[in-house]
Amino acid sequence: MDMYKLGFKEEEAVLRKVAEPVTEFNQQLKDQIKEMIEFMINSNGVGLAAPQIGDSRRLLVVGFDDMKPMAFINPEIIETSMDENVYEEGCLSVPGMYAKVTRPKRIKVQAWNERGRPFTIEADGMLATVLQHEIDHLNGVLFVDHLNERNKDKILKKYFKTMGIQ
Ligand code: NI
Repeated sequence: MDMYKLGFKEEEAVLRKVAEPVTEFNQQLKDQIKEMIEFMINSNGVGLAAPQIGDSRRLLVVGFDDMKPMAFINPEIIETSMDENVYEEGCLSVPGMYAKVTRPKRIKVQAWNERGRPFTIEADGMLATVLQHEIDHLNGVLFVDHLNERNKDKILKKYFKTMGIQ
Protein backbone atom coordinates (compact mmCIF):
# COMPACT_ATOMS: atom_id res chain seq x y z
CA MET A 1 0.00 0.00 0.00
CA ASP A 2 1.41 3.38 -1.06
CA MET A 3 0.40 6.81 0.13
CA TYR A 4 -0.65 8.97 -2.80
CA LYS A 5 0.64 12.51 -2.47
CA LEU A 6 -0.06 15.89 -3.92
CA GLY A 7 2.47 17.04 -6.51
CA PHE A 8 2.95 13.72 -8.28
CA LYS A 9 0.98 13.78 -11.51
CA GLU A 10 -0.71 10.37 -11.51
CA GLU A 11 -1.23 10.34 -7.76
CA GLU A 12 -2.68 13.84 -7.80
CA ALA A 13 -5.09 12.83 -10.56
CA VAL A 14 -6.56 10.13 -8.29
CA LEU A 15 -6.64 12.47 -5.29
CA ARG A 16 -8.54 15.05 -7.36
CA LYS A 17 -11.13 12.66 -8.77
CA VAL A 18 -14.65 12.18 -7.44
CA ALA A 19 -14.62 8.60 -6.16
CA GLU A 20 -17.15 5.96 -7.25
CA PRO A 21 -19.59 4.26 -4.85
CA VAL A 22 -18.64 0.88 -3.42
CA THR A 23 -21.00 -1.68 -4.94
CA GLU A 24 -19.60 -5.01 -3.76
CA PHE A 25 -19.50 -5.91 -0.08
CA ASN A 26 -17.23 -8.94 -0.08
CA GLN A 27 -14.16 -10.41 1.59
CA GLN A 28 -11.85 -8.31 -0.59
CA LEU A 29 -13.48 -5.19 0.84
CA LYS A 30 -13.13 -6.45 4.43
CA ASP A 31 -9.45 -7.28 3.84
CA GLN A 32 -8.81 -3.87 2.33
CA ILE A 33 -10.45 -2.11 5.28
CA LYS A 34 -8.22 -4.08 7.65
CA GLU A 35 -5.15 -3.08 5.65
CA MET A 36 -6.24 0.54 5.49
CA ILE A 37 -6.67 0.66 9.27
CA GLU A 38 -3.18 -0.80 9.77
CA PHE A 39 -1.71 1.59 7.22
CA MET A 40 -3.42 4.56 8.88
CA ILE A 41 -2.12 3.57 12.32
CA ASN A 42 1.41 2.92 11.03
CA SER A 43 1.37 6.31 9.27
CA ASN A 44 0.27 8.03 12.50
CA GLY A 45 -2.90 9.20 10.79
CA VAL A 46 -6.33 9.70 12.33
CA GLY A 47 -8.16 8.94 9.10
CA LEU A 48 -7.49 7.51 5.65
CA ALA A 49 -9.63 7.63 2.52
CA ALA A 50 -9.35 5.05 -0.28
CA PRO A 51 -8.24 7.59 -2.95
CA GLN A 52 -5.16 8.21 -0.78
CA ILE A 53 -4.01 4.67 -1.59
CA GLY A 54 -4.98 4.97 -5.22
CA ASP A 55 -8.40 3.35 -4.93
CA SER A 56 -11.03 5.71 -6.28
CA ARG A 57 -13.95 4.33 -4.28
CA ARG A 58 -16.11 5.92 -1.59
CA LEU A 59 -14.52 4.28 1.41
CA LEU A 60 -12.68 5.64 4.43
CA VAL A 61 -11.43 4.64 7.86
CA VAL A 62 -11.02 6.75 10.98
CA GLY A 63 -9.53 6.04 14.37
CA PHE A 64 -7.76 7.95 17.11
CA ASP A 65 -7.38 8.13 20.87
CA ASP A 66 -9.35 5.33 22.53
CA MET A 67 -11.86 4.97 19.72
CA LYS A 68 -11.99 1.64 17.90
CA PRO A 69 -11.01 2.29 14.26
CA MET A 70 -14.03 2.07 11.99
CA ALA A 71 -14.91 2.07 8.32
CA PHE A 72 -17.40 4.29 6.52
CA ILE A 73 -18.53 3.04 3.15
CA ASN A 74 -20.41 5.34 0.76
CA PRO A 75 -20.70 7.98 3.54
CA GLU A 76 -23.03 10.95 3.17
CA ILE A 77 -23.27 13.97 5.43
CA ILE A 78 -27.00 14.32 6.04
CA GLU A 79 -26.93 17.12 8.62
CA THR A 80 -24.52 19.87 9.60
CA SER A 81 -24.63 22.28 12.53
CA MET A 82 -24.60 26.03 12.12
CA ASP A 83 -21.86 26.46 14.71
CA GLU A 84 -18.32 25.81 13.64
CA ASN A 85 -15.05 24.48 14.96
CA VAL A 86 -11.49 25.31 14.04
CA TYR A 87 -8.88 22.56 14.08
CA GLU A 88 -5.33 22.46 12.87
CA GLU A 89 -5.48 19.89 10.09
CA GLY A 90 -2.84 17.92 8.29
CA CYS A 91 -3.04 15.23 5.64
CA LEU A 92 -0.99 12.16 4.81
CA SER A 93 -1.27 13.19 1.16
CA VAL A 94 0.24 16.61 1.90
CA PRO A 95 2.83 15.46 4.45
CA GLY A 96 4.37 17.94 6.86
CA MET A 97 1.84 20.71 6.22
CA TYR A 98 -0.68 21.94 8.77
CA ALA A 99 -3.26 24.70 8.75
CA LYS A 100 -6.31 25.78 10.67
CA VAL A 101 -9.54 24.85 8.92
CA THR A 102 -13.07 25.94 9.87
CA ARG A 103 -15.84 23.39 9.49
CA PRO A 104 -19.28 22.67 10.99
CA LYS A 105 -18.89 21.55 14.60
CA ARG A 106 -21.39 18.71 14.47
CA ILE A 107 -22.51 16.50 11.62
CA LYS A 108 -24.72 13.51 11.07
CA VAL A 109 -23.30 10.91 8.68
CA GLN A 110 -25.01 7.99 7.05
CA ALA A 111 -22.83 5.16 5.79
CA TRP A 112 -22.49 1.39 5.44
CA ASN A 113 -20.16 -0.84 7.43
CA GLU A 114 -17.95 -3.62 6.04
CA ARG A 115 -20.77 -6.13 6.50
CA GLY A 116 -23.00 -4.02 4.27
CA ARG A 117 -25.17 -2.72 7.10
CA PRO A 118 -26.31 0.90 7.03
CA PHE A 119 -25.77 3.08 10.07
CA THR A 120 -25.90 6.73 11.04
CA ILE A 121 -23.60 8.47 13.46
CA GLU A 122 -23.68 11.88 15.09
CA ALA A 123 -20.18 13.26 15.32
CA ASP A 124 -18.94 16.21 17.33
CA GLY A 125 -15.56 17.86 17.81
CA MET A 126 -12.53 16.12 16.37
CA LEU A 127 -14.47 13.16 14.94
CA ALA A 128 -16.71 15.58 13.03
CA THR A 129 -13.67 17.32 11.58
CA VAL A 130 -11.86 14.10 10.68
CA LEU A 131 -14.95 12.69 8.97
CA GLN A 132 -15.47 15.87 6.97
CA HIS A 133 -11.79 15.87 5.97
CA GLU A 134 -11.98 12.23 4.84
CA ILE A 135 -15.32 12.63 3.04
CA ASP A 136 -13.76 15.60 1.21
CA HIS A 137 -11.14 13.16 -0.13
CA LEU A 138 -13.94 11.14 -1.75
CA ASN A 139 -14.92 14.28 -3.64
CA GLY A 140 -11.41 15.18 -4.74
CA VAL A 141 -11.10 17.94 -2.13
CA LEU A 142 -8.04 18.48 0.08
CA PHE A 143 -7.86 20.48 3.31
CA VAL A 144 -5.78 23.18 1.63
CA ASP A 145 -8.80 23.92 -0.60
CA HIS A 146 -10.56 25.31 2.49
CA LEU A 147 -7.91 28.02 2.97
CA ASN A 148 -8.12 31.43 1.39
CA GLU A 149 -6.13 31.84 -1.80
CA ARG A 150 -3.18 33.52 -0.13
CA ASN A 151 -2.78 30.89 2.58
CA LYS A 152 -3.32 28.08 0.10
CA ASP A 153 -0.58 29.46 -2.18
CA LYS A 154 1.73 29.85 0.77
CA ILE A 155 1.28 26.34 2.11
CA LEU A 156 1.54 24.73 -1.34
CA LYS A 157 4.72 26.65 -2.14
CA LYS A 158 6.22 25.50 1.12
CA TYR A 159 5.08 21.93 0.46
CA PHE A 160 6.51 21.76 -3.05
CA LYS A 161 9.76 23.24 -1.80
CA THR A 162 10.07 20.71 1.05
CA MET A 163 9.22 17.86 -1.30
CA GLY A 164 11.66 19.14 -3.91
CA ILE A 165 8.94 19.42 -6.53
CA GLN A 166 9.01 22.22 -9.21
NI1 NI B 1 -6.24 13.92 4.22
